[in-house]
Amino acid sequence: MATSQTSLPKYLQDLEGVNEVYRKFFSVLPKEKGWMGTYMYNYQDFWASARTIQGVIACQQQFQAQDSDIILVTSPKAGTTWLKSLLFVLVNRKKHPVFEQNHPLLVKNPHDLIPFLELTLYADGQVPNLSSFTSPRLLSTHVPFASLPKSVLDSRTKLVYLCRNPRDIFISMWHFTNKLRLHHIDTNSMEEMFDLFCKGVSPYGPFWNHVLEYWKQSIEKPNKVLFLMYEEIKAQPKLLLKCLAEFLECPFSIEEENLGVVDEILRMCSFESLSNLEVNTSGKLSTGAENKVFFRKGEVGDWKNYFTTEMNEKLNHVIEQKFQGSGLRFLYI
Ligand code: A3P
Repeated sequence: MATSQTSLPKYLQDLEGVNEVYRKFFSVLPKEKGWMGTYMYNYQDFWASARTIQGVIACQQQFQAQDSDIILVTSPKAGTTWLKSLLFVLVNRKKHPVFEQNHPLLVKNPHDLIPFLELTLYADGQVPNLSSFTSPRLLSTHVPFASLPKSVLDSRTKLVYLCRNPRDIFISMWHFTNKLRLHHIDTNSMEEMFDLFCKGVSPYGPFWNHVLEYWKQSIEKPNKVLFLMYEEIKAQPKLLLKCLAEFLECPFSIEEENLGVVDEILRMCSFESLSNLEVNTSGKLSTGAENKVFFRKGEVGDWKNYFTTEMNEKLNHVIEQKFQGSGLRFLYI
């Protein structure tokens, strides 16, 4: 369906959605078909929409990290919403005890509790007022390691990285971007999007570069970067939540464990629980996206319901080639 660009939600706009001063800059960047109908541009070796890149640049120029900051970094569709909820409840459990009836997670979407730097706070090139954030500030981003604001690397800010089987990421992204189009633009065929994904053209991709950079950092600087996998959290939620708490220097006390705090955090943040909250069934984010689009199935291995043998072979080949020698394995494929 043809729709004029300016009547589209901002996240679907192309150059109309960015500052005039940036337009010339985008006109010389490599460009490919975007997953949501607009184009994606290649900036600093990763792909993103023009509006996203404008937010990344603003964030690179202005964001001042603090030593106590905690930044969640994810590849889109790796389970960001889930980890935001776990992080928020875990880190704020003194201020907001988990058994409290009016806990913020029950009335706010996790993306409103932990905002994205480039997609929310610095979106549209704005300068956010971060003074209302209490320490430790919980923030998030999808930005590749090499493009993080310099102050993040120079400070003792902790980075929690979440990765997921690329097959499930692809399927999740395909559904998500089709929903976000709001029927303004025809659905992309899965074949076309799969080819783009394998070529590395996906939001913040190539996926492999994104993952490998943070994987390497997590090995070199284990106190700065914690590398987590969606599938591992699903398989051993208690163990991984405790690891996360240790990494963030807020381990569970014996008393908390005996009181069932660990189990309660996992229950509150479960797909079942979050996806059924009123705020997540009928609420919207400031960008206009409906909260419910962040909850689909929440399972490991849904790709098997979609992949043809050819798709599987093709992606296996890419994964083998890209991750060879890295020591990183997708255990739950
Ligand atoms: P599926 O599309 O495979 O269901 P992101 O939050 O990074 O956008 O990722 C969204 C994916 O995480 C979706 O995957 C979504 O269903 C899943 N998800 C959302 N909340 C979850 C939760 N509490 N537990 C597990 N998975 C969750």
